[in-house]
Order: sequence, then structure tokens, then C-alpha cells
Amino acid sequence: MSALGARLGVGLIGTNRWAQSAHLPGYAAHERVDLVAVCDVVPERARALQGEFRARKVYFDHRELLADPEVRVVDVCTPTHTHLELSLAAIAAGKHVLCEKPLHTAAGPAFAAAAAAAARGVRTKLGFTFRYSPAIRQLKEWIASGSLGEIFHVHGFEQNSQFLDPDFPLRQVAPDAPRDQLLPASIVGYGSHLVDLMRWLAGDFSAVAATMRNFVPERRVVGMEGRQRIAVEDGTVALVEFVSGAQGLLQSSYIAIGNYPGVEIRVYGSKGAAVARLITEFGVAESLKFASADAVEFRDVAIELTRLPPGTSLATPWPELYYRNLIRHFVDEILDDTPEECTFRDGAMSQQIVDTIVAAHAQRRWLDLPPAPDDAAAPTAAAPSGAR
Ligand SMILES: NC(=O)c1ccc[n+]([C@@H]2O[C@H](COP(=O)([O-])OP(=O)(O)OC[C@H]3O[C@@H](n4cnc5c(N)ncnc54)[C@H](O)[C@@H]3O)[C@@H](O)[C@H]2O)c1
Repeated sequence: MSALGARLGVGLIGTNRWAQSAHLPGYAAHERVDLVAVCDVVPERARALQGEFRARKVYFDHRELLADPEVRVVDVCTPTHTHLELSLAAIAAGKHVLCEKPLHTAAGPAFAAAAAAAARGVRTKLGFTFRYSPAIRQLKEWIASGSLGEIFHVHGFEQNSQFLDPDFPLRQVAPDAPRDQLLPASIVGYGSHLVDLMRWLAGDFSAVAATMRNFVPERRVVGMEGRQRIAVEDGTVALVEFVSGAQGLLQSSYIAIGNYPGVEIRVYGSKGAAVARLITEFGVAESLKFASADAVEFRDVAIELTRLPPGTSLATPWPELYYRNLIRHFVDEILDDTPEECTFRDGAMSQQIVDTIVAAHAQRRWLDLPPAPDDAAAPTAAAPSGAR
């Protein structure tokens, strides 16, 4: 599609909290977006956000949204267990797709969805929020330009105390989840972001070793009565070997005291080192520090204002700050036909690493990452029944 004057028609499925605080502000702020429709199976939610964000139409069944020819991009902002099916239906309908993470809780189907999008010729983006942090993008450029030299160590954390209180209800646990085994949770919910960030910054992982634990043995779960005795993994630590030879360590935790979103990345190279902290503290969303081989005391670096989406500042709440950037990139990539980044394939690669971390813990040993299927070799993803 040609660029100038074009507006991109968007339809969003799933109009609850995250759509309201992150996705829809992103579309509202982009001058080249036409918010065609929103959709939710709960009509009052759909109508409320249609009014707030001035969507032109409202649907209560995703198939009607997918059949709308004005919708060229479908945004999937529904619970995790629906992500894959809705994304495959959107791909089958010939729409570009932005899907919340994780695309699926196993890598195989996620690779198949990436292959389906490639075969259909549509673009994809996965909601890896923190790639769109201005500090992280500045750090990425330092690595790419060689300012940090050869990368030796990469440390990544995604942790906060969201689920430290056992009465703060946990979401995304299936009612029939087994009670006699550890259920991967923080490594899926937070870890999928974190391994994607580390992989984006330092390249592919080659091997991992890991330990996972349930620290809070009883907690409330959305949709269930009272506290449940259920072994939800609320802390994971992993060691990483990268293909480049660099070393990494990562931690995901639902119970480490600290504020949202609680992402910290430290990169140590032969020429310089940098620390990006994406933790809202005292009204400021993030900070960046740098040290060099001959000036080893870390100093604050001003985040370049040109990296912030128009109309935001470091005082903008983090979901809106990062998602306005993410959506601006996706819309511009489509309208301007520029290279894609942060795709379903990246989502599948991240999931494969998460799966391997979980298996390494279960087997109590180092595991090599399996080879990733290329898009042509991935198994065909069948469109689910009901898709057009
Ligand atoms: N990227 C991030 O940093 C980040 C942060 C928070 C949440 N998330 C993810 O965003 C997604 C949405 O989060 P949330 O907290 O708003 O979830 P939620 O469960 O509160 O809301 C999801 C909405 O989707 C609707 N829905 C479910 N199935 C549907 C269907 N088939 N058709 C139409 N509507 C349907 C539900 O009625 C609900 O209104 C989740 O996957 C969550 O994990 C990502």
C-alpha cells in the first residue's frame, strides 16, 4: 500500500484492561490509523471502549470483525488461551496481526502460525512491550554500533511483587490445572518478554540450565473460590550460553519486592557496560546508565527524547509509553513497507527458549536449544473451524 495519505484500518478483539491502558491509546495517538472496530464477547465492555476511543463499529463476535473489509490489521488482546486460534483466523482472513504475548504456551504451534503468516503474505507483531522502551532501543544501538565492544555478559530480570500477596488473584490458571506438579507461570508470563529482550540484544541462545520454584504455596486464583493449594512457579533463575559465546543469567519472579514492570537489563562488553532499568520509581518510567573501560563509575545517560513517541515523556505511564511506540512501529512498517521486527517468529523463538528452560529444570541438567524450524519447514497451521 502506498504511504502518503493512507490510513490503516484496525480492528481490536478483547476490550478489557490491557486494551484500555496500552493498545487503544496507541491507535488513538497515531495520525495514520483508522480505528474501524472493537470487539468483545462482553457487549458492555466493547461498547464502553468503543465510546472512549471512538471506534466506528462494534462487534460481539470476532468472525464479524474478520469479515469486515475495512479492517486490515487485527489486534488480538484477549486471554492467552485464545491467542493462537484468533491469530490463525485473522491470518486466514488475510489480515495483518498484532497479538499479545505469548502467542501460544508451546513453541511448535507458534512456529506454525509464523509460517502461516509468511505463506499468506501478512505481517505479524508480537506484543513484546519492552522492546519499545526508549532506553532499551538506545542500548540496542550501542551494541549494534560496537560502542560496548565484544559482549561478555548479559543479565536480565523481570520481577516485581505483583503476586507476593496470596490474596491478589492469579490469572491464566486453567480450572483443570494439575495439583501435583509445578505449573510454569512467571517464566511464561514475564520470562517470555525477558528471553525475547535478551535474544534481541545478544543473539540466539545455545544452551540453558535452570531452577524453578513455588514460593507461595496457597493463593487465590481468578474464577475459583478461596485460596487454592496449587504449585504455581513464582520464581525462576536460569544460566544462559549464547551462540556468540557470551554468558547470560536471567530471573523472572512474581514475588520479588519492587515496582512494575520490574525489567532490568545489564550488558557488559569489552569497551563499555550499560544498565537499563525499566522500573517506575518516583514518577519516572525508566533510566539508563553507562560505564566505559577507562571510566568505570556508572553515570546516568539522558534518554534521547527523539526515541519517545510523540506527545509522551518519561512521566507517561509505562504501558502507554511503550505501547504507543510499539503500535507506531507496526503501523509505519505496514504503511511504509519497511522491514518487520518483533514478529510471530520471534514469539516462537522466545517460547522455544522458555520451553527449554522448563525442561532443563525438570531434568536437572544443561540443555541445548533445539534447531528452530524455518518458515517453509514448519508444520502447516490449519485455520480453526469458524475462520473464514
Ligand atoms: N504485553 C504486556 O506487557 C502485557 C501486559 C498485560 C497484559 N498482557 C496480555 O494482554 C492480554 C489481555 O489482558 P487483559 O488483562 O486485558 O485480559 P482480560 O482477560 O482482562 O480481558 C480480555 C478480554 O477479552 C475478551 N475476550 C475473550 N475471548 C474473546 C473472544 N473470543 N472474542 C472477543 N473477546 C474475547 C474478554 O471478554 C475480556 O474482555 C492477555 O493475554 C495478557 O496476558 C500483556
